[in-house]
Amino acid sequence: MADMLRQNIRQAFLEDENIAVSRLLGVLALPQGDRTRISDAAARLVGQVRRHGDPGVMQSFLAEYGLSTSEGVALMCLAEALLRVPDAETIDELIQDKIVPHDWASHIGDSGSILVNASTWGLMLTGRMLEDEAEGVVGALRGIVRRLGEPVVRRAVEAAMREMGEQFVLGRDIEEATQNGNELVGRGYTYSYDMLGEAARTDADAIRYHDAYREAIRFIATRAGSEDLRDNPGISVKLSALHPRYEFTQSRLMLPVMCERLLALCHAARDARVGLNIDAEEADRLDLSLEVISRVLPEPSLAGWDGFGVVVQAYGQRALHVIDWLHQLAEGHGRRIMIRLVKGAYWDTEIKRAQVNGLPGYPVFTRKFNTDVSYLACARRLLAYGDRIYPQFATHNAHTVSAVLHLAGDDREGFEFQRLHGMGDVLHDILHQERHTRCRIYAPVGTHEDLLAYLVRRLLENGANSSFVNQIVDESISPEEIARDPVSSIEEYPQAANSTIPMPADLYAPSRRNSHGFDVNDPLTCKQLLAERRQWETGYQWIAADSPDGWQILNPANGNDGVGSIQPASPEAVDSLMVEALAAADGWAVTSVAERAECLMRAADLYESHCSELFALLAREAGKTLRDAIAELR
Ligand code: FAD
Ligand code: 2OP
Repeated sequence: MADMLRQNIRQAFLEDENIAVSRLLGVLALPQGDRTRISDAAARLVGQVRRHGDPGVMQSFLAEYGLSTSEGVALMCLAEALLRVPDAETIDELIQDKIVPHDWASHIGDSGSILVNASTWGLMLTGRMLEDEAEGVVGALRGIVRRLGEPVVRRAVEAAMREMGEQFVLGRDIEEATQNGNELVGRGYTYSYDMLGEAARTDADAIRYHDAYREAIRFIATRAGSEDLRDNPGISVKLSALHPRYEFTQSRLMLPVMCERLLALCHAARDARVGLNIDAEEADRLDLSLEVISRVLPEPSLAGWDGFGVVVQAYGQRALHVIDWLHQLAEGHGRRIMIRLVKGAYWDTEIKRAQVNGLPGYPVFTRKFNTDVSYLACARRLLAYGDRIYPQFATHNAHTVSAVLHLAGDDREGFEFQRLHGMGDVLHDILHQERHTRCRIYAPVGTHEDLLAYLVRRLLENGANSSFVNQIVDESISPEEIARDPVSSIEEYPQAANSTIPMPADLYAPSRRNSHGFDVNDPLTCKQLLAERRQWETGYQWIAADSPDGWQILNPANGNDGVGSIQPASPEAVDSLMVEALAAADGWAVTSVAERAECLMRAADLYESHCSELFALLAREAGKTLRDAIAELR
């Protein structure tokens, strides 16, 4: 059974969106009347949130400079790159590159926030000042501005970035973070601490992150006074921080180390009476993370501890299958686990990666309301699995929370809501006070050196005009529109997939087809590649030349394995090729860049369209040389 469920997960990796969405609609099965009630309740909540408080400066700033404006994109690029630039000169160039070309003046006075308008003035003046410099305007005044200007601008931009980071980070270390969290703990909130750091590059990094998690668990143990884990703080762990080669192709070496490190943290969390959640990261890590979970959760030493938690991303077509599999795993081993349901923070990365890698589809939904519906279908499933699963609904969206409350009925104990530090505070305050829901806050801890990736995800989320947190600040969008029923939105379109996001293969259509790639972190892709490779594995001889004095080529990994032969070029052949090349060089030198690019594109297209034919031909006619096979296909 568990194997079958695992297989379902694998098969849904790049599943057609129509199929996935219709399955989810079937699971959600909300009658029209319920959907209307949920939207009405959500619209009221939106109104309440708007009346309750001013949005923070950061939210107002990101509403003004959202990612649908070129200025917002420029600031995003600046934020993303700034923390990685080591030297002042490059920082100045970067600032100049990103600030000067934009129309900051068009934003003046747009925002309801005085501070945002002040920042706009600052950006505009900075842009003008740098522009003047770039144009080489000299003179005493300019000289002073120049000398004064660059470090001042640089420092101001750095300070702004730091400020931005601080909005989303609770403290520089766990002690400071728990101190800063005291007020909300006093008001009935709990925390899940996240030690900033991910994607360890070296084992030393991984050990450092592991130590930081362990230290944090040790520290929060002092705050975990309740027998009930729900009342105690918890910890969130990113598996990518625990091993530098968290990749499918490295499974054999990586898994034992990763599992040992995770198990050590689970033991510490169990002893500290706190929960530990495994964060969900990029889609191509999912299968591997499930492998780790399937090895660690059943450990007998963890029996009786209900704090093992897993994050599931609703934006992936696999989400519902993952929940079914986790439920089965927990049941099979007599455990209770926690599942934190999120929509997913890596959407832009997933889309870009699938395109760059030329995958046959996307591992995430391409319309926001498909993700919303997936979230609700998963929520329904989680609530039905209450025997084994404690659901943690992590969202800042008023419609999503209203739908969860509707699905949960009178139950207020069997689940909790969660939000990120620096986001969704007013909404969750209202729910906490008026609906008596539990709320846990995910709180990153660390310094700005480890913040970059996390900060970029928050900026993307806050800056996207499809995000709830972005829309709530924009008073031109009515509460009813924000709280629109996602099922109705789906029903408006004949196709579930977003037609403005082409399939990865059609990225350059109609001019050319994108090259086809493989995700070597996907077990089914690897299985297929290995199966296709098998025919070349035993005894097949690659022949690059058919002459008897060809050289035998050995497999570099196995000296007994001859893979084929090549014909070494004779000095005469090299000479004649050089003559041919030189004769062609003059013509090539005067060929326009566009024409050269066209040649390369054509070569790529020919490769793309012929490579499978070439291999099929070679497999069919063993003994054929590569040169002859290529000639035959021309
Ligand atoms: P909404 O505005 O309703 O939803 C925004 C989300 O919709 C986007 O983030 C994206 O997922 C999705 N979306 C946007 N555009 C599209 C589109 N065109 N097509 C399809 N989907 C789209 N995220 C992780 O990935 N891993 C984690 O481990 C994780 N842990 C978290 C823990 C907590 C406690 C919280 C609160 C969040 C966590 N997140 C995690 C982040 C979370 O994924 C985002 O905060 C969440 O997606 C925002 O959803 P929302 O309901 O608040 O907002
Ligand atoms: C992230 O790191 C919150 O885990 C989520 O973006």
